[in-house]
Amino acid sequence: MDIERQREDKSRVDSTFGMGHIFKEVPDLIPAEIQRGLNTSIIGKTIEYYREVKSTNSVAASMADDVEDGTTIITEIQTRGRGRIGRTWVSPRGGIWLSIVLKPRMPAARAYRLTIAAGLAAAKTIRAYEIDAKIKWPNDIIIGNKKVCGILTETNAEAEQLKHAIVGIGVDANIDTRLFPEEIRDRSTSLQTELGESIDRVEFIKRLLTGFEYEYLRLYKQFPRILDEWRYLLATTGKRVQINNPLTTIYGKAVGVDREGALIIKCDDGFIERVVAGECIHASI
Ligand code: BTN
Repeated sequence: MDIERQREDKSRVDSTFGMGHIFKEVPDLIPAEIQRGLNTSIIGKTIEYYREVKSTNSVAASMADDVEDGTTIITEIQTRGRGRIGRTWVSPRGGIWLSIVLKPRMPAARAYRLTIAAGLAAAKTIRAYEIDAKIKWPNDIIIGNKKVCGILTETNAEAEQLKHAIVGIGVDANIDTRLFPEEIRDRSTSLQTELGESIDRVEFIKRLLTGFEYEYLRLYKQFPRILDEWRYLLATTGKRVQINNPLTTIYGKAVGVDREGALIIKCDDGFIERVVAGECIHASI
């Protein structure tokens, strides 16, 4: 274990937003319980658990060269959780914050498939709780129009082949999102809020890792089927959307997703655009 990781492991202060005391009643995860009866052959075979880290994606990246495919990093709290497009990911006690190191033999250009597989697994896991979770392009899981889960995939490639990918999944599980910072409060929900009671996080993580392994194993031969299931759960198709890219903003109607998961938009000016990345906002009308 390197010095940075040791330091993070020893850091037991619930410092998240100064609200640690509010979240204290959520019991810690016990890694041995997650692995007990976990019937996977790759994902979660090795679990590294921390009470607090800056970001599980960063911890996973720092050890990626030395660990096996499927190694999973889990923490109770992230003090510098990272979201897409350089955003902060608010990660207090009670959530599920984990990153999976993946070493598939695939071209780096296909890494988006891992995100789609993870999004599908996360949406299915949440739906198993009889919650009508949907996917918002490209990879948010929403309930109604509120976000409950986000996915951040980061890759490391050499000669256009993937060396490894880190798939980070954040689920607002047993969190009172009314305590979230104002700028995300109205756009966020949690499983606890939706169900009216807290969930067993160990059970959820087991289901998520098992579900993700199922998608991961069929990624090579059955990606079109994964994509079809993902499309079926996609809330974005048919909606008026605004896409924000660093270079441009696009307004139009999302008419579908192509075979690489890119969003097809009929723009207000009549042109058809294919969008591979960016922030997607569903218009309320
Ligand atoms: C997003 O929707 O912007 C992506 C959010 C991803 C959050 C998860 S939580 C676990 C992992 N570690 C991080 O720092 N980020 C991801």
